[in-house]
Amino acid sequence: MPVRSLGYLRVGTEDVEAWRQFAGEFLGMMAVEGDDPESLYYRMDDFPARLVISPAAQAGVGAIGFEVLGGEELDEMATTVEDTGTKVTPLDAVECKDRRVTAAVRFDDPAGNALELFYGPALSHKPVVMPNVNAFVTGRQGMGHVVVTVPEGQPAYEFYTKALGFKGRNTLRLPAAPGPDGSPRFETLWFLGCNPRHHTIGILPMAGPGRLVHFMVEGATIDDVGQAWDRAERLEVPVMQTLGRHTNDRMVSFYVISPDGFAVEFGFDGLQVEGDEPVYEITEGAFWGHKFVNFPKL
Ligand SMILES: [Fe+2]
Repeated sequence: MPVRSLGYLRVGTEDVEAWRQFAGEFLGMMAVEGDDPESLYYRMDDFPARLVISPAAQAGVGAIGFEVLGGEELDEMATTVEDTGTKVTPLDAVECKDRRVTAAVRFDDPAGNALELFYGPALSHKPVVMPNVNAFVTGRQGMGHVVVTVPEGQPAYEFYTKALGFKGRNTLRLPAAPGPDGSPRFETLWFLGCNPRHHTIGILPMAGPGRLVHFMVEGATIDDVGQAWDRAERLEVPVMQTLGRHTNDRMVSFYVISPDGFAVEFGFDGLQVEGDEPVYEITEGAFWGHKFVNFPKL
C-alpha cells in the first residue's frame, strides 16, 4: 500500500519569530497550541497541525510526514523500508502525542531527507479560522507537495517508488556538468504522486546532502493567490518567482523565499490526476510567468 498524502511538515529554524509572521500572516495558516511551548503549530484544515516550526541549532527540515492508511499498512511499509537497508525507528509516545497521531516511524531517504510515516491523526472539529485565506485544498490531496534534493536521482527514484509506493507522473531534464569529453549531460527531476494531487514529492538531483527546495500549499480560489501576493508585498516577503502557470500540475502560483532560505509556493487550480496516467516529460516549467527575481539559499 502506498503513501496516501503529505500529512505534515516539521521545520527546524534558528529564527522561530520570523516564522510567526511568515506562516501565520503571510501563508495565512491558523496558529494553534501544541505540546512544545517553544514551537509554533499551524492548522490548515481539520487535520492536527500540518506545519510545525521548532527552534533548532541548524535550520532544516525536521520531518516530511506522509500519511498511510492504518496500522497494518504502517507496519508493512516500515518493513519494506527496512528491507532496503534503511534504519527505521518508531516514534515514542511523547512524539506521537505531539503530532496527534496514533503511531509513526522515522527514517531517512537515501539522500538523508528526514521522513516519517504515520497513521491515525486526531482530527479537530473546531472550525479552522483563517482570516487571510478562504480555504486550503487538502483532504485526499494532503497538505500540498515538497521538492527535495538528492545527490543521485536513480536510488532516490527507486526508494520513493518501490519502498513508498509513489508513481512517476512526469520528468524534467535539467542540464548537468558536461562529461569528461565535454559531451552534454542531463539530470532528471522526477515528479511523483500518490493521490489525485499531480505530485506530492519532487526529487531534484543536486550535489550535497538532501534538503528541501520548496513546499507548496494550494488555496481554494485565485483570490487566495492574489491576496497572498499582496501580503508578500506588504510584509516584504521576498518573491523568488513571479506569478505563472506550471506545465505539469497546471498550478497558477508564485514562490517566495522562507525565513530559512528555501522556497514556498502558493498556488491555485492544481491538476487532479484520476487513476494511472502515462509518464511524460515536460520541456518547460511554465506556460507563462514564474520569472526568477530572487534565488533561494540551496
Ligand atoms: Fe511546486
